Amino acid sequence: MTLDSGATIDQGFTERLIQVRASIEQRLNELLPECGNERDLVAVAMRESTLAPGKRMRPILLLLAAQGLGHDGPQGLELGCAVEMIHAASLVLDDMPCMDNAALRRGRPTVHLKFGEDVAILTAVALLSRAFGVIASIQDLPPAIRTQLVEIAANAVGMQGLVRGQFQDLRDGQQARSPEEIAMTNNLKTGALFGAIMDMAWLIGSSDETVRPGLQNFAMELGQAFQMYDDLRDKHFDGDKDTGKDLGKSTFVSLYGEDKVRQQLQVHLGNAQECLRQVYGDSHLITGYMRMVFDKAALAV
Ligand code: IPE
Ligand code: IPE
Ligand code: MG
Ligand code: MG
Ligand code: MG
Repeated sequence: MTLDSGATIDQGFTERLIQVRASIEQRLNELLPECGNERDLVAVAMRESTLAPGKRMRPILLLLAAQGLGHDGPQGLELGCAVEMIHAASLVLDDMPCMDNAALRRGRPTVHLKFGEDVAILTAVALLSRAFGVIASIQDLPPAIRTQLVEIAANAVGMQGLVRGQFQDLRDGQQARSPEEIAMTNNLKTGALFGAIMDMAWLIGSSDETVRPGLQNFAMELGQAFQMYDDLRDKHFDGDKDTGKDLGKSTFVSLYGEDKVRQQLQVHLGNAQECLRQVYGDSHLITGYMRMVFDKAALAV
């Protein structure tokens, strides 16, 4: 497979990904600096929860998507880091006793176990605030674009996104649900942030209206596939996070069983890949990256 840079997937691809990942780690580290006061527990927890070894799938996707649309400035990295902070905040809250009551996240004790529930709530609020602050202060963008980026992030977090999805997951998930209802929850709790990522990449990239729907379709297919993978993962311990947290919850795995979900996951991935092909052509880093993430995932579940 050749990539946009002309490199083969084995050579240039891996190197580019390592570079992209390193730039994300470095910028997150700068945006959440060590405060030098170990009693400032919220600051410590913000840093630890975000810098803990996650996949960084969201910022990587944002950067690759934007670069593929012609963007080559520093704004993509700022947005990617802001999205990673939003994601980290959602994980801190999701792990709390009143939600999934999890003990392990990214291979480490969850924030509320290590620092207390008070610190966990404040950490999540502070990370969200920091993320919005980072987006609002991105340099060298027209103010109208910055405002739109803030609005995209706000929608992905709030009642059109993560918050509503999480509420549905916790409350409606306790009863039997139709496939459509489960898909809607997955769209909101997982797909909406991918949708925001692709919209942000589009805004700072080409802003060509004709490709926007394809990018959104990609995000929704990816969201469905990714939540299916995550729900399968709930049954297979890998040392990274708790398993068994979905017991008694209505998910596609409880509705259809693991084998059928594995098949459906492949259908969503195929659809996602077709959306990418329509926007980026046959061979592009983002397609290679997505395939790599899910090839690894398939080995684990
Ligand atoms: C976990 O996301 C939460 C879901 C949306 C399913 P990730 O699997 O991307 O978590 P990290 O960032 O790698 O820890
Ligand atoms: C939560 O889904 C997704 C979020 C947006 C936080 P899960 O509850 O299944 O995520 P994990 O398995 O704890 O990472
Ligand atoms: Mg949850
Ligand atoms: Mg959870
Ligand atoms: Mg899960």
